[in-house]
Amino acid sequence: MYLLGSVCAESKTGSAINETQKAIGSTQELEVSRIRFVVSLLAYIVCAAMKSTGHVVFFAPRREKPNASYLHLPSLPVVCKGFSTPLRAARLLIRLPGAFRARRGAVIFDDLRAIQLRHGFLPKAELEGLSQRTQTPLYQIHSVASFYPHFHLAPPPKAEIRVCADMSCHLNGACELRADLERCFANSRPEDVQIRDVSCLGRCDHAPAISINDHIFTDVTAAHAEEIARSAIRGEEVQEPHPEQARIACKADPYIDGEKYVVARKLIQSKAWDDVLAQLKAAELKGMGGAGFPTNVKWDLVRKQPDPVRYIVCNADESEPGTIKDRFIMTNLPHLLIEGMIIAGLVTGAKRGILYIRHEYHLQEEILGEEIRRCYRAGLLGKKILGSDLDYDLEVFVSPGGYICGEESALIEAIEGHRAEPRNKPPFPGQIGLWQKPTVINNVETFINVPQILARGIDWFVAQGAGGTRGLKFVGVSGHVTRPGIFEVPMGVPMREVIFDHAGGIRGGRQLKAFAPSGPSSGYLPAPMIDVRLDFKALAEAGSMLGSGAVVVCDDTTCMLDMALNAVRFYRNESCGKCVPCRVGSQKMADMLARWTQGGVAESQYRADLALLDELSQAMSLTSICGLGQIAPAPIQSVLKHFRAEVDAHVLKSQCPSGICFTAASRAGEAQRVGIRP
Ligand SMILES: Cc1cc2nc3c(=O)[nH]c(=O)nc-3n(C[C@H](O)[C@H](O)[C@H](O)COP(=O)(O)O)c2cc1C
Ligand code: SF4
Ligand code: FES
Repeated sequence: MYLLGSVCAESKTGSAINETQKAIGSTQELEVSRIRFVVSLLAYIVCAAMKSTGHVVFFAPRREKPNASYLHLPSLPVVCKGFSTPLRAARLLIRLPGAFRARRGAVIFDDLRAIQLRHGFLPKAELEGLSQRTQTPLYQIHSVASFYPHFHLAPPPKAEIRVCADMSCHLNGACELRADLERCFANSRPEDVQIRDVSCLGRCDHAPAISINDHIFTDVTAAHAEEIARSAIRGEEVQEPHPEQARIACKADPYIDGEKYVVARKLIQSKAWDDVLAQLKAAELKGMGGAGFPTNVKWDLVRKQPDPVRYIVCNADESEPGTIKDRFIMTNLPHLLIEGMIIAGLVTGAKRGILYIRHEYHLQEEILGEEIRRCYRAGLLGKKILGSDLDYDLEVFVSPGGYICGEESALIEAIEGHRAEPRNKPPFPGQIGLWQKPTVINNVETFINVPQILARGIDWFVAQGAGGTRGLKFVGVSGHVTRPGIFEVPMGVPMREVIFDHAGGIRGGRQLKAFAPSGPSSGYLPAPMIDVRLDFKALAEAGSMLGSGAVVVCDDTTCMLDMALNAVRFYRNESCGKCVPCRVGSQKMADMLARWTQGGVAESQYRADLALLDELSQAMSLTSICGLGQIAPAPIQSVLKHFRAEVDAHVLKSQCPSGICFTAASRAGEAQRVGIRP
């Protein structure tokens, strides 16, 4: 749904408005402006009448934050100043190309990125200039810029070191690394170097990972990080390593040696859209982004919407600790992802696709950009694809950052140029999504499953799974394993096979203590449950979830209370803050667990804490707007269920059975986190 006024606020038209505004300054012009107001009112009525034809939509449906639009709605007389007549304005608006409108959201991020590139941060004067140029209130620009961790509102130091503090890096010495770096730079000036935590950088298989001036380094040691940081302090440019890597052949690729995009080519000729939906239904393809929603139902919902403008969005935000499979898929199977998105567009009648990728995936952004350009050259994208009467455009949207951007409605808000705060649902994106239009949002892996099924048939798909489950699955395995990485396995295999056969088992001859089947969201399962199958139903019955297939493995030296605290801190840090249960609840939970890891809590207080934790968990699960707040209690609930004796030992006896808590190092780490001296 397009706001009539927003279009006038686009920078080009905006300058015309400014000109007119200056002219109106004189008394003479005031008279003219009154006449224009009457004419504008007429235009308003004409356009409102046209709304019923579906050509122009005047009002966005009631939103929770009416002022959140980047390109705000100017007052009505202003609308017509940029056009010679109101009717011409209405006609122009109808003819505006989709690309122009779809880029509106990206514009604010492009502008902010350009300013940050010039200055290293966003100076106030530049934001004021942007506000004037785009006729956008400064507070709106500021509210967006201050939301995303990618943007700096103050000058950064010469070397900004950010150490990933999440699960896989935490298991691989991130705390020690950070403490070493703090020591190395203890006498440095804050304008030279600053060390901070950062959420998962998407390199969990090469932990610990850090970023220095937004360039990512993996498997780092303190000495290596210090060397890079010191060169940055000297003014040398930091270069992110991009090791050359040959593409890995995958079983999932139906085109290993042959021509690509065969399914899309055939479909353009046959136009057998119903057949595609029937095959996806028969294959029982479920979403691979976490919720496991049936893909055919989602596509069918969008296809049946009366609004002819629809969008396809690929969710490649992948920011949950341990989740790295989409990075692998985009590196090795970019053609399958793009083909899946083309098929989704054809079947649902969408003419535009947007691939939303996290900003830390520079290499994958390049690979996909190249593949998209190849498709345009081959006539598979653009106007009248392959000589048919069908149009489909595809673009990449680089996320301004934050785990919450992966939540589908928050992702839509980000594309629209707002703060990535999830919307209340219903309505779902399939009904009212991007720009208020019906929108399919699927995960990367869901899209690549579509051409697989259509190219090879349902029997092939069924045969790929194990134990009655269908298809193949890409899983990321990280933590205390010998060979962390991404593996393509039959869906339904026992976790034992994933952890021991593929990832090489527990490193250093240690024993398995626990594993998270899908990052913090899935909670932790104890070693005796290792034979649970990699399957939606089996994992749900085990009290966990398949999620996105991010297996994080803990050996017998791990403190499970420490891991629960680590997970809840992640949610606390990443909560967008829109709703109270999540914003306040995650902080309260983190405070409570931190206190437990310090021991010395009286038994009566512990009992009261446990009751409060239960209440808090229920309130968060039932009343949080989105999945982040709903799932935040899962890690501690799973630890209390499976490792209760360990928690009791901390709280009641001030003992950490794994020797992680109550040490000088842990006290120093804790002090660092809460910003006090140990
Ligand atoms: C906090 C949060 C983060 C999420 N992050 C992702 C993500 O990075 N990638 C993804 O595909 N889905 C993510 N999801 C799930 C999406 O909201 C959505 O369900 C999914 O993209 C739908 O695709 P699918 O049907 O193919 O699974 C996230 C959900 C929540 C609540
Ligand atoms: S649950 Fe948390 S992340 Fe989700 S909308 Fe509420 S505050 Fe934001
Ligand atoms: S890169 Fe550190 S947990 Fe993912």
